Amino acid sequence: MSTDRIIFSRPYRAVNELNNLATVLESDHIHGDGRFTASSTARIKEITGSKHALLTTSCTHALELGGLLLELGPGDEVIVPSFAFSSAATAVALRGATIVFVDIDLATGNIDPAAVADAITARTKAVLVMHYGGVAADMEPLLALAQQYGIALIEDNAHGLGGSWRGCKLGTIGAVGTQSFHDTKNIHCGEGGALLLSDDALMERAEIIREKGTNRARFLRGQVDKYSWQDIGSSYLPSELNAAVLDAQLSEFETVQAQRHRVWDGYRTGLADWAQERDVHLMTVPPDCEHTAHLFYVRMPNEQIRDAMIRHVAEQGIVAPFHYVPLDSSAAGKRYGSTPQPCVRSELFSTTILRLPLWPMLSADQQDRVVDAVTSYSW
Ligand SMILES: Cc1ncc(COP(=O)(O)O)c(C=O)c1O
Repeated sequence: MSTDRIIFSRPYRAVNELNNLATVLESDHIHGDGRFTASSTARIKEITGSKHALLTTSCTHALELGGLLLELGPGDEVIVPSFAFSSAATAVALRGATIVFVDIDLATGNIDPAAVADAITARTKAVLVMHYGGVAADMEPLLALAQQYGIALIEDNAHGLGGSWRGCKLGTIGAVGTQSFHDTKNIHCGEGGALLLSDDALMERAEIIREKGTNRARFLRGQVDKYSWQDIGSSYLPSELNAAVLDAQLSEFETVQAQRHRVWDGYRTGLADWAQERDVHLMTVPPDCEHTAHLFYVRMPNEQIRDAMIRHVAEQGIVAPFHYVPLDSSAAGKRYGSTPQPCVRSELFSTTILRLPLWPMLSADQQDRVVDAVTSYSW
């Protein structure tokens, strides 16, 4: 058995990437919104079933665009899970709105609807939901709260391309959905993202904000005879070079997913007995969710054992990190957010999880090495 280092994540390589890149470079259209953007966008709409989709330069930018569309501003509150990525919080803070951090459900790492209910005030304008690992948050109570209080749901679906909850595709359930195509994600183009929308009026405005505040998209479709400055905006559209890689990757979506599920299932089976004997929780997926095999984690009994496990597997050449540091405990979280109730489950989740290497071409031998390394540690 090999002793090569097993890294945590390896970007997928799609067959047509180089051909597509050459096509762009040999053309006269290298900026955004060319044929590969159109093709990638169509593929994203097909995978997600979203009525509208716009490629963006990142998921972070898609979240920022979402914050602009929902007109978040000073005096508004947005409820954000304590256990989430910084981009969710910065999108709110950049608009001058207040982030209200709430706790998570230990079973999934997703926002806890009961904590959301407790945090709602007359100022609450939106709730940000992250589907951790591509496993849907508990959407039924969240949708009910959103409807009862007239609150928008933002889905940070960076991990969940193609995942679903009760047959509804993730990223299309709330008012705004976002995807990431960073090279750590299932499908990537180095850096990239997408915004998913169902509302026609929001889509019309999103196109303008994404293109420096202009109606260039309408001009390109021949709907106006010149384009001009219409609204505030930024430059959130990726170049055709990114779209060329993304299109090649999306064309192999099913292969990528099948390979990732093979690895995910391998961990679930290979670690089941050990987890049961050692009081370790393996990542679980509620029966009404179809997950995306974006990551696989184990939750260890405490932080000391988790940290010792990270060192133990590292000695065997295996990179198994943890993330996220709870946002409410971070420097910016304290500056821009409020935390009405201590987020104790988020803290526990963050200090006890360990993520295992997962990428499409991880071989059976490599996976056996990871499983052996993990199960050989005793405490
Ligand atoms: C849940 C989540 N949201 C957003 C992001 C940011 O994505 P991007 O790098 O595309 O901006 C990440 C990045 O890892 C993430 O994990």
